[in-house]
Amino acid sequence: MSVAHPAHRGSILLEDAQVIGQSSWPGRQYVLTLRAPRIAARAVAGSFVHLTCDEHLPMRRPLSVQRVDTRNGTLEILYKVIGDGLDRLSRAAAGDSLSCLGPIGQGFTPNPARPLALLIGGGVGMPPMVFLAETMLARAAEGFRPLALFGSEIPFPFQPKPSTLLVPGIPDGAIAAHPLLEDWGVASRLATQAGFAGCFAGYVTDLAAAWLASLDSATLARVSVYACGPTPMLAATARVAQRFAVPCQVSLEEFMACAVGGCAGCAVEVQTPDGPAMKRVCVDGPVFDASAVFPPGAP
Ligand SMILES: Cc1cc2nc3c(=O)[nH]c(=O)nc-3n(C[C@H](O)[C@H](O)[C@H](O)COP(=O)(O)OP(=O)(O)OC[C@H]3O[C@@H](n4cnc5c(N)ncnc54)[C@H](O)[C@@H]3O)c2cc1C
Ligand code: FES
Repeated sequence: MSVAHPAHRGSILLEDAQVIGQSSWPGRQYVLTLRAPRIAARAVAGSFVHLTCDEHLPMRRPLSVQRVDTRNGTLEILYKVIGDGLDRLSRAAAGDSLSCLGPIGQGFTPNPARPLALLIGGGVGMPPMVFLAETMLARAAEGFRPLALFGSEIPFPFQPKPSTLLVPGIPDGAIAAHPLLEDWGVASRLATQAGFAGCFAGYVTDLAAAWLASLDSATLARVSVYACGPTPMLAATARVAQRFAVPCQVSLEEFMACAVGGCAGCAVEVQTPDGPAMKRVCVDGPVFDASAVFPPGAP
């Protein structure tokens, strides 16, 4: 399936977002809630904001939207501090105002023809998967049944809880789940090589492959894969999807300057029916067909 992208340029908004609060998690991970009603109203799973972390820092930072509450006009972001920008953002307090550009980018396109949705999130690639799970939950009448698999090598930025939702094909002992998804009735499981209790011991893509291998061909024909995380994880996800012949959408990360399509600083090579083409991750993506960025046979 090719990912259908509606025209999106021109609909990026600039809003002064009010910090509602943030919570901190081990490994310098933070969950930030902002009030930005116009951006929250238009965000979709896979779209991101370009945020001024501190008024004295010239460059904005791109961060995915994890959840929106359109009634309260708020949006939630999960981030891990890498350098100076997000370090300054971690010091933002309730009542502060941050300039916020968004929502930006082409998000995930849920495929109703393949409603068994395998959502794979690695590290701070988890936020768009939480958003997508909630989107599919709202569209459950169309048959969507998401299964979310999350991987992290540092403690998860939430308190995992044992799942009560049985998922045939998941290896014994992998019982830890994302608490919010569990409360929604959306099945999830966690993977790590760091030995966290109740988690699958290995890569999240190995857990995905184990589940896919347990399905018969009729069930596999109803599966689609959606992924966000580090590039090696996305490449491994694309290979797993190719092995089981299921369509896959991936969200890419690239260094960004303008994030509105003007500088081409984020361009990556993508395979198209007319041959290779350069696409801007910010506005043409960040979500692409996995086969377009990780063609079969690529290392
Ligand atoms: C579309 C998109 C969505 C993202 N969503 C999230 C998210 O939800 N949570 C999260 O923790 N991180 C996310 N990232 C990565 C995040 O933007 C970078 O980790 C962050 O910009 C690093 O900033 P810093 O000030 O901490 O680090 P620094 O190293 O000080 O950053 C220096 C410069 O490099 C850029 N940069 C550094 N690493 C990255 C990177 N991986 N991707 C893009 N630019 C980078 C910064 O924007 C900045 O201009 C996303 C990136 C993209 C492109
Ligand atoms: S960051 Fe400028 S075009 Fe994408």
